[in-house]
Formats: sequence, structure tokens, C-alpha cells
Amino acid sequence: MIQLQDEALLEDLLAAIHATFGHHTGYRATHSKGIVAHGTFTAAPEAARLSRAAHLQGQPVPVTVRFSNFSGVPQTPDGDMMASPRGLGIRFHAGEGAGTDIVAHSFDGFPVATPREFLAFLQGIAASVSPTAPDPAPLETFLASHPRARHYLETVKPPPRSYTTIHYFGINAFVLAAADGTLSTGRYRFEPLAPPETVPEHEVPTLAENYLADELEARLAQGPAAMRLIFQLAGNGDDTADGSQPWPYYGPQARHEQVLGELQIEALASDQVQASSQLALNPARLIDGVQLSDDPMVPLRNALYRLAASRRR
Ligand code: HEM
Repeated sequence: MIQLQDEALLEDLLAAIHATFGHHTGYRATHSKGIVAHGTFTAAPEAARLSRAAHLQGQPVPVTVRFSNFSGVPQTPDGDMMASPRGLGIRFHAGEGAGTDIVAHSFDGFPVATPREFLAFLQGIAASVSPTAPDPAPLETFLASHPRARHYLETVKPPPRSYTTIHYFGINAFVLAAADGTLSTGRYRFEPLAPPETVPEHEVPTLAENYLADELEARLAQGPAAMRLIFQLAGNGDDTADGSQPWPYYGPQARHEQVLGELQIEALASDQVQASSQLALNPARLIDGVQLSDDPMVPLRNALYRLAASRRR
């Protein structure tokens, strides 16, 4: 596992997250409300040509999935602005050891490209929501020089009809290594098989607080929900170290993509509290056939998710 030595940066990041959302013992620092389900992933035949990873060879692999809301406040209602972007974290129980994870969210892009910028962004947000003396100035100064962060904050993110009817983006680039050593750099994307659907603005006030968990439970009682896992290959000139910049996946600029396989979400975990607390997903949990790219955010996320998970208890 990759280590990130800058402990002060990690502590500062976690402190800024807690200053924004509060510290809720037993819950994740962000994406604190979620629901865990079990299912199966089956790789498409072409996936093995891109990667030798155990979960991409075509045998069905058991998976654990956690859908979540962005907010670090577990009581945030599902229809609230702070509940977006939504999260999809998945563990493939394949290969040796604990398996491998993807941690994705429903916004195509990210406010910043580097750990230090992320700290400045979070500190700006924390200052602007401070219960004692809210001060919007640091955030405004930051946004003035960071258009991607402004775009992230100002884009309307309508609530999904279901956790399973929206796209999720891996944001940070990874490298797939084939059996013959060929390397392919790209980003993950999950695409629903059901038609994508969000809730229109006029309906949002009528949404129940936990409608997404209720919807998932009702949907799975009728049968599995299916999503496709796609690998979007970096094009010429794409900066694989900058997750803040989306790469189009439709239209004339669409990057070449490869379907890696299909995810069947089958049943909710029976003990949600235990399933959620036992799971510590981490985008840097890799296996042979999946490697880090030059994106500096993944080593940072690795160290911070581990620190945050250890502080949940
Ligand atoms: C440097 C940037 C980032 C920081 C500092 C950060 C921070 C965190 C922290 C502290 C947690 C809680 C971990 C735990 O207690 O297990 C978390 C969870 C999560 N993050 Fe991030 N994150 C970052 C980037 C991203 C990106 C780019 C995405 C989407 C692609 C993302 C999506 C998620 C999701 C979905 C979860 C919940 C995972 C679960 O269900 O267990 N994060 N993040």
C-alpha cells in the first residue's frame, strides 16, 4: 500500500471536513449516509485483453456495493442539495487478499486537481459555513482562481430517482495492465442499464427523507438492478494527473471506451449498520493488473480514507 508522509496535511484535511459537517461518531466523515448491497460482477470478454486482474477474466465475482450521499451529516435528507453528488463504492472479492475497490461519484469532474488545492477549497467551505462567524471571503477568493471548483459548486445536481439510475465517475485515472504487459490509462464509469432518471425540481419538496434506501429495497424485491462498468481510455493530450477535468463520454469529443463488464446488484445487506461500518473502501486498494496512474489524488485518498476509517470509531 502507498503511504503519504505528510501527516499534517491529512490531519488538516480531516479537520476541514469535520469543521464543515461536524464529527459524527460511527459514521464516515463524508458520504456518511449510505446503503450496502451484495451482488455479482461479470467481466465482458474484452476486459481480459486490457487487464490481467482476477475480476476482469470473465468468471462471476461476488461484490459488495455501498451507495451513499455526499454529505457528512448522516441526517441530511436524500432530497437535500448537500446529498449530491451520490457515491458508489464497490469491492470486488477477487484475487488474493481483500480484493480491489472502485470509489466513484455521480458528478463528472472534481473541484480541484491536487491535495493542497483541495485543502484550500475545504477550508474555504468550512469558513463559509462556520456556526460562529461565517466568512465567505476565503471561498470566494479561491473560486475566483479555480473555475472548475466554481463549476462543481454551482452546477445543479438534481436528486436521482434511484441510486441505480444515474452515472457514476471514477474521476482519478488508473492503469490497466494486460497479461502481455500492455498498459492502458483511463477512468472508470458506471452506467445504469435502466434509463437514467432524476427527480424534477417541483417534486423535490415531496421526497421522503430516506426515499433512496426505500426505492432500492423495493426495486431489489422485484429483481436485480444492473449497471455496466466502463473504462474510458485517455485520449491524446488528456492530463491523467488532473481528475478535475471531465473527459466527454458522448458527442464528437467522446473518448474511446471499453465495457469492462456488468454489475448485478442483488440484495441489501441484512445488518446495514454492521455492513457499513465493517467496510472501509479505498480507491488505492489495487490488485495485480490494476495500477496507479500519475494522479496525485489517489495516494492522498489512500492515506486519508485509512485515517478517516480509523477515526470513525
Ligand atoms: C482528495 C480528494 C478526496 C478526499 C480528501 C476525500 C475524502 C473522503 C473521506 C474522508 C471519506 C470517508 C472515508 C471513510 O470513512 O471510509 C470519503 C469517502 C468517499 N469518497 Fe472521497 N475524497 C476525495 C475524493 C473523492 C473522489 C474524487 C470521489 C469520487 C470519485 C470520492 C467519493 C467518495 C465516496 C463515494 C466515499 C464513500 C465511500 C464508502 O461508501 O465507503 N471522493 N472521501
